Amino acid sequence: MNNAGSVEVGQEVVMKNVGRLPVTFSRGEGSRLWDADGKEYIDFLSGISVNNFGHCHPDITAALRDQAGKILHVSNYFYLEEQIKLAHELTKLTNYHSVFFANSGAEANEAAIKLARKYGKTKLGGRYQIITAKGSFHGRTLGALSATGKPQYQEDFQPLVPGFAYAEYNSLKSWLGAITEQTCAVMLELVQGEGGVYPADPDFVEGLARICYKYNLLMIVDEVQTGLGRTGKLFAYEHFNMKPDIVTIAKSLGGGVPCGALMVNEKADIFTPGDHSTTIGGGAMAYAAGLVTLRLLQEPGFLDEVLRKGNYIKDTWEYWRREMPVIDGCRGLGLMLALDLKVPSKQVMLACLEEGLVVNAVSETGIRILPALNISREDLDEGLAIFKKVLKNL
Ligand SMILES: Cc1ncc(COP(=O)(O)O)c(C=O)c1O
Repeated sequence: MNNAGSVEVGQEVVMKNVGRLPVTFSRGEGSRLWDADGKEYIDFLSGISVNNFGHCHPDITAALRDQAGKILHVSNYFYLEEQIKLAHELTKLTNYHSVFFANSGAEANEAAIKLARKYGKTKLGGRYQIITAKGSFHGRTLGALSATGKPQYQEDFQPLVPGFAYAEYNSLKSWLGAITEQTCAVMLELVQGEGGVYPADPDFVEGLARICYKYNLLMIVDEVQTGLGRTGKLFAYEHFNMKPDIVTIAKSLGGGVPCGALMVNEKADIFTPGDHSTTIGGGAMAYAAGLVTLRLLQEPGFLDEVLRKGNYIKDTWEYWRREMPVIDGCRGLGLMLALDLKVPSKQVMLACLEEGLVVNAVSETGIRILPALNISREDLDEGLAIFKKVLKNL
């Protein structure tokens, strides 16, 4: 038997840089996945908020097929039609001034970090320090890892890139205390995703925006996980009474094809030729899928329905909590949610997988879900029923 695609072979030849679960998926459609043995699963994770329109959305698939037969790459010396169209659509929707395309969230954040450094150097007399949040996650490249406020991810990779300071999430006092005469920017998530799904407090975010304005610091918001509809708004910053200078996005932008982006306002639009680049930087396939993604997100009532579905899940979980003492609480925004348990989450994640539901153990006791934004009520209920059964059997 040809077992070239089996978990056993994967465990030998695919690098063990992350802890993978012993399942090989071979097909997906909407919010359903099938593994190599044909077992069906409900997907409540969407590839960590990448497949926001489910697997193989017909419009995204058609755009990718079409683009693959048209043109893929021309280098940075030229424009690509789809690149311009996607940048135009993003700037039209947000009023940001311009867009740089990268290949991932980490790369988008690297660009933001370099931009903040240049801003400090050229506009603020040489300041270079960026303040980020404890518990944050900004990616695994060395600069993004240095920005990440999780010492456990950083230990083996010292020395890190210098010039980062870390402050308590949701504590304005802590950020004020961290600002020095070297500070040029702050960088934060509006819902900490990898940190355990912790939404930011509006008073904190709006207070921080005021501080940035007062001290002329750049405000960078990392919307790699929260962006593009995940929280029920096109961008999570729309939940707050402020607008960042720089927003980074990635994940779902390319509809499953790698793509990251950095959007800047006029004040932060300071890169000049030669400052920053990447050979592919998204690429035509990602841009084509990105255009479909933005169109789907703008369908009337779509984002309101994301919010409604998120509230429905939270209400359901609150209801379960009354009869299941194993539940400790829940939190989140839109369809970015976590359920806290009084038992280790890994055992629950594995039991869900066994029963045909994909969820994520985001912390020792927290289960994170990121269902496709267009998940049907039927799939949602079916997934919730599996989750409930697993929790009841604990
Ligand atoms: C908020 C945030 N920033 C950055 C990243 C890194 O993105 P990527 O894995 O595409 O490099 C992630 C990934 O989970 C993220 O959640």
